[in-house]
Amino acid sequence: MKKLVLITGASGGIGKLLLEEFVGKGFNVNGTYHNTLPPEKYKDYYTKVDVLDSDTVQSWIKDHADAAKEIVLINCAGIAYNAIAHKTDINKWRKVIEVNLIGTFNVISHALPYMRENKYGRIVNFSSVTGQKGVPGTSSYAASKSGLWGMTKAIAIENATKNITINNINLGYMNIGMIEMVPKDIQEIIKASIPVKTFGDPENIKRTVNYLIDSDYITGTSIDLNGGLL
Ligand SMILES: NC(=O)c1ccc[n+]([C@@H]2O[C@H](COP(=O)([O-])OP(=O)(O)OC[C@H]3O[C@@H](n4cnc5c(N)ncnc54)[C@H](OP(=O)(O)O)[C@@H]3O)[C@@H](O)[C@H]2O)c1
Repeated sequence: MKKLVLITGASGGIGKLLLEEFVGKGFNVNGTYHNTLPPEKYKDYYTKVDVLDSDTVQSWIKDHADAAKEIVLINCAGIAYNAIAHKTDINKWRKVIEVNLIGTFNVISHALPYMRENKYGRIVNFSSVTGQKGVPGTSSYAASKSGLWGMTKAIAIENATKNITINNINLGYMNIGMIEMVPKDIQEIIKASIPVKTFGDPENIKRTVNYLIDSDYITGTSIDLNGGLL
């Protein structure tokens, strides 16, 4: 039976890239969008879901997972808010934690019962170098992304005997998605700070996700994909 690949945030740069990758591989795939309409060509592979809405998340997963044996969950849904700490809007700060951390947990917790029942699961989350390095203006984003590391370790241990793995990819600055919101002059400054001197080719993301899916022995950890930026 074909693997089921569920992808949150599949209307964004990385999620869409991965949706196309796994459709191309012939897997059963469904991705979520929230505000951005999915591309016409792939619209049948999409469902509108807010990762914070527990009922919608639950029915999205049930609709696809009921008939599946091997489920892969890739959590790409995320938002950023840039503000230095003493000039922060607390509601915007909190929203980042809600979407990136609580939203990711919400989706995982609804997918786990199916994975446990099937004794197979692969969960991949996207974290960030900002949580490792300290980048001004990213306190909410960095907190949300570093929260994923502890969450991942706990869930990995809880499910280790069920052939379920969960890991993070700690991205540096990739040539896709969120980076497009950063002004060009700032992009050049960031590039100069990266040891390999370029933004990451998105092909690296596909390779790393495939690697984590193929392994049954990497769990509770993170892979740094950042061009040496630490
Ligand atoms: N690109 C990078 O260099 C980079 C670096 C480090 C980490 N990351 C992480 O990698 C992941 C993907 O990044 P990206 O660059 O592809 O970002 P992106 O292009 O901004 O896409 C973000 C996705 O999240 C979805 N989303 C936002 N709020 C949501 C909600 N409440 N419910 C459901 N979906 C929601 C968006 O949906 P709509 O647009 O439909 O609203 C969109 O599909 C994110 O977690 C990001 O933090 C990216």
